[in-house]
Amino acid sequence: MAFKIAVSNQKGGTGKTTLAVNISAAFEAGGNTVALIDGDPQGTAVRWVTSGSIPLPMTVLSLAPAGKGIGAEIKKQDSNFDVIVIDCPGNLEDPRIASVLEVADFCLVPLSPSPADLFSTVAMIRMIESIRSFRNPRLSSALMLNSVNGKTRMREEILKILTAEEIGEHLLNSQIGQREVYRQTFALGTTIHHHNRYLKGLKEARAEIENLVAEMAQYIHSKRGNGEQNG
Ligand SMILES: Nc1ncnc2c1ncn2[C@@H]1O[C@H](COP(=O)(O)OP(=O)(O)OP(=O)(O)O)[C@@H](O)[C@H]1O
Ligand SMILES: [Mg+2]
Repeated sequence: MAFKIAVSNQKGGTGKTTLAVNISAAFEAGGNTVALIDGDPQGTAVRWVTSGSIPLPMTVLSLAPAGKGIGAEIKKQDSNFDVIVIDCPGNLEDPRIASVLEVADFCLVPLSPSPADLFSTVAMIRMIESIRSFRNPRLSSALMLNSVNGKTRMREEILKILTAEEIGEHLLNSQIGQREVYRQTFALGTTIHHHNRYLKGLKEARAEIENLVAEMAQYIHSKRGNGEQNG
């Protein structure tokens, strides 16, 4: 069975597609068979990975047309891949998000490092909790800061708010820097792992994407371990 990772947040432009594409590439580079599923009717992920001059090896499936049947379509791919990464639409009213979360193992929730972004992410967190309680107890999830400017100490601020507001969502240690190379590789139709010419920040970006993938794998593993112990 494939391990299914949804990348979702109702807030637009927090880096869902950027992360979905780049973590797919990193899992693929790590020796996994990977499907990247474009679950967003905007079709950004498909356009990205089919627009470059180097063909990318991961399979890309456009499943947004299935609408709220997208979860069932994802399940059909279960035995074909080791990892399935789903780029979700940026609007919680879109029934595809719940459908994806009902079949996913993990939901990565990227947000910009600002209190305003955290507050607008609360609805996403509540939706994950509700799906975990009523539809899919296997679903684990974590927040992750994207587009972090190295000079700020926003991580501490975000952690304080999570505690003060009693938002019981895990914040990954890994964070992704604000780097032009993410925009550049997007524009070139390549990924941080596949781009083969010098670009400023490429090495650093590759290292942080690999850290993120490793931390997610470890976190998911620990959650699964607990789940098994709890019965
Ligand atoms: N870490 C980063 N550093 C610099 N630019 C970034 C970073 N992450 C994303 N971007 C840029 O921010 C913009 C929005 O990113 P992206 O399209 O991945 O967001 P999204 O959450 O998928 O948006 P939407 O809600 O519209 O689907 C893009 O131009 C992307 O290149
Ligand atoms: Mg997107």
